[in-house]
Amino acid sequence: LSSTEVDLGQIAAGQSVTILWRGKPVFVRHRTEAEIAQAKTDDTAALPDPQKDADRVKKPEWLVMMGVCTHLGCVPLGQKGDFGGWFCPCHGSHYDTSGRIRKGPAPSNLPVPDYAFLNDTRIRIG
Ligand code: FES
Repeated sequence: LSSTEVDLGQIAAGQSVTILWRGKPVFVRHRTEAEIAQAKTDDTAALPDPQKDADRVKKPEWLVMMGVCTHLGCVPLGQKGDFGGWFCPCHGSHYDTSGRIRKGPAPSNLPVPDYAFLNDTRIRIG
């Protein structure tokens, strides 16, 4: 399928789901207030691949991004690592609560796929 829909209604704050889209994992995370605040604070940190959190989300509470490490393609683990986001155990890349690379060999942020909100609780990816 070239596009897929995700029901957000069952994903509580602080929970994530991983869906497969075009054969690759996509993380859909319902961020907590603390994670959103941290992501905004980190806008001004030294970012290897500078991007504002607001430019990575359509709604602050929903982070949708590819679950594929930009180093060599492993699947990062959620809510691990030094920045409260994701950690790739393959070679030690740390991503923050916006999915931005902060430390380790990965060259760039976890990519945000094309997606759209169909209504408050449903998105279509692709
Ligand atoms: Fe993730 Fe190398 S594949 S750090």
